[in-house]
Formats: sequence, structure tokens, C-alpha cells
Amino acid sequence: MSLNNAMTADFLRSAYGGESMAHMRYLIWGEAAEKDGYPNIGRLFKGVAYAELCHAKNHFTVLKDQVGDNTVAAGAVFGHTNIVENLQGAINGELHEINQMYPVYLETAKFQNEKDAQRSFHYALEAEKIHAKLFQDAQDSAKSGKDIGSETIYVCPVCGFTELGDNVEKCPVCGVSKDKFQAF
Ligand SMILES: [Fe+2]
Ligand SMILES: [Fe+2]
Repeated sequence: MSLNNAMTADFLRSAYGGESMAHMRYLIWGEAAEKDGYPNIGRLFKGVAYAELCHAKNHFTVLKDQVGDNTVAAGAVFGHTNIVENLQGAINGELHEINQMYPVYLETAKFQNEKDAQRSFHYALEAEKIHAKLFQDAQDSAKSGKDIGSETIYVCPVCGFTELGDNVEKCPVCGVSKDKFQAF
């Protein structure tokens, strides 16, 4: 792991902050979903929270030689009301990462030839695309008062790739074998 450019380092710190908050927010919303009678959407939130932890860990690890204190500014979603609105918050956060944040961070890391940061941003971007879709499908169910199905949710511990049900034999993003995946 190495890091030579201040702007890529700033973007890693911001992404670390954003992922850390997403992780916490999804645990809170997951607990609320379970209490409201949507145990499978609760599990989805918990599985995706774990994926965001993996992203935060990747960014933090790329920054490991940047020893010191920093103030971190990161996009954050607020609101804790009902399941449909909480899912909208989740969708909005994921779409921000997909359409604004990670493409710009990734291009910067490419421009600055920061290979480790590129990988970390690429992994997150690919997973967030799936998360947005999973949350959208969950919201469609919740709008008609229904929970999602009871399929196991699998998350790749390396890149945060997330799947609903048992569809892949190894991670399509980073190649890690399925037996390493976390199940929720
Ligand atoms: Fe995500
Ligand atoms: Fe992966």
C-alpha cells in the first residue's frame, strides 16, 4: 500500500467517513425495519451495512501510512421515520456514490496513478450499484406493505459485492471464492 498524492488521500478520508456513516445508518434502519415487521428488509440493511464496513476498511487500509489527525467532511443522509422513507434515504445515498462521488474519486486516483486507491474506489462503486437496486426493490415491496423474500444475503468480505440468494460461485468483482462470503 502506498499513497503519494494529497487529493487522493483527501478523497479516501472522505469516502471512509461516508462509508462509516452509511454502515451505522443501515444498522439503525435495519433494527427499525425488524421492529416494524420487515425482518428480511432488516437483514438486507444489516448485510449492506457489512458491505459498507468492508469499503471503509479498504479505504482506511490504503491510508494506513498517513498517520495523524484529520477533520473529515463526508456526505451524510439524515432522517429516521418510516421504512419507505428510510429506504429512500438509502437509495439517495447509494445514487450519490454511484453518480457523483466514486466516479470522480476513481478518475482522480487514475489521474494520480494511485493504484491502491483505484482498487478501493472501484470495489465500492461496483457494490453500490447493486445496493441501489436491492434497496429500490425493497422499497417497492415496502410501499405495498410487504417484506422482501427470505433468500440469504451474501456479501464478499474483500470488495463488498452483495447478492440476494445463491447465484455466484466466486465474487464477480474481485474473484474471491464464495466460501469466504459472509451470509446474512
Ligand atoms: Fe452501498
Ligand atoms: Fe469481492
